[in-house]
Amino acid sequence: MDVGCFAIKVTLLFLSFVVHHRGIARGGGCDLYEGKWVHDESYPLYDTSQCPFIEKEFDCLKNGRPDKDYLKYRWQPNAVKGKSIMFVGDSLSLNQWQSLTCMLHVALPHAKYSSVRTGGLSTFTFPAYGAKVMFSRNAFLVDIVSTNHGAALMLDSIEGGNLWKGIDVLVFNTWHWWLHRGRQQPWNFIQVGKATYRDMDRLVAYEKALSTWAKWVESNVDPAKTKVFFQGVSPDHMNGSDWREPNAKNCEGQKEPFFNKRGNYKYPAGPHPAQLVVEKVIGAMSKPVHLLDVTTLSQLRKDGHPSVYGHGGHRDLDCSHWCLAGVPDTWNQLLYAALLKSYLKPAS
Ligand SMILES: *[C@@H]1O[C@H](CO)[C@@H](O)[C@H](O)[C@H]1NC(C)=O
Repeated sequence: MDVGCFAIKVTLLFLSFVVHHRGIARGGGCDLYEGKWVHDESYPLYDTSQCPFIEKEFDCLKNGRPDKDYLKYRWQPNAVKGKSIMFVGDSLSLNQWQSLTCMLHVALPHAKYSSVRTGGLSTFTFPAYGAKVMFSRNAFLVDIVSTNHGAALMLDSIEGGNLWKGIDVLVFNTWHWWLHRGRQQPWNFIQVGKATYRDMDRLVAYEKALSTWAKWVESNVDPAKTKVFFQGVSPDHMNGSDWREPNAKNCEGQKEPFFNKRGNYKYPAGPHPAQLVVEKVIGAMSKPVHLLDVTTLSQLRKDGHPSVYGHGGHRDLDCSHWCLAGVPDTWNQLLYAALLKSYLKPAS
């Protein structure tokens, strides 16, 4: 079995997990262990002829076992009701949401699905499983409100949060829009309480907004019902000096990851400044929020962006988003691993 196939099995597991792990936090137990065996044509997980060191006594097919159905059963933990997962953030959230929906569809090509977009909310559903994978476009997490003086970026207001209540798994992200200026900047001034500012240091504004988001989580999330993730800052590759290739203007033409010749995994540009803010804010929270810490591993993938193969050719070169298949698939594998770990841990 090849690696791609393994990824699909992992994804199947992810879906059954997203759908079927209900009640885990309920009694502190874990009903991943209660359920039933279901027939699954995509099984077995591996072909023993590709495992050269298998002990003879376990290799039933080779020893002549004639029936094969026993290979085709997958463990399906108890289903109680469908689960929902929502990505909330900018187009990097769209990138990860799309990666997950593609992986799920490829894993279950015959399962009916629907993908509906209403305004800023995209909902991908497998009706038979009751599973929903959503993406809510929200570049800043905090609110932008139109006033007589133009659009205000409200660093201490987060009404948008009403949409996030009752979701089982929330995956937040914000960063890229905080640097936009001029025509790409969708607000005219910043407001905090009654005070208004023409502008401020963007990292300072970012920290204030993240603190507002953290307060929302502290007062609205019940950790027994909802798991909260923060999708780490996704780095772009707009300056070759970051990876010791000063002649590279951006990511165009990059064909392989950055490999540090000194043998460690450090990225020459060092930690991303926004990543440090995220770590600081999440580190001060009392409710459990899992940082999906993908910044450093993504920094190494200067080769993973669309560059001229996105929507704009050379006129709209893209060194921010990621090609699919690609880096966000790894983010989802890590999200899966973290979810599994958080649900297997007895509820405290
Ligand atoms: C790239 O980064 C280097 C080092 O930080 C800096 O000196 C240079 O001005 C940057 N180039 C561009 C085009 O921003």
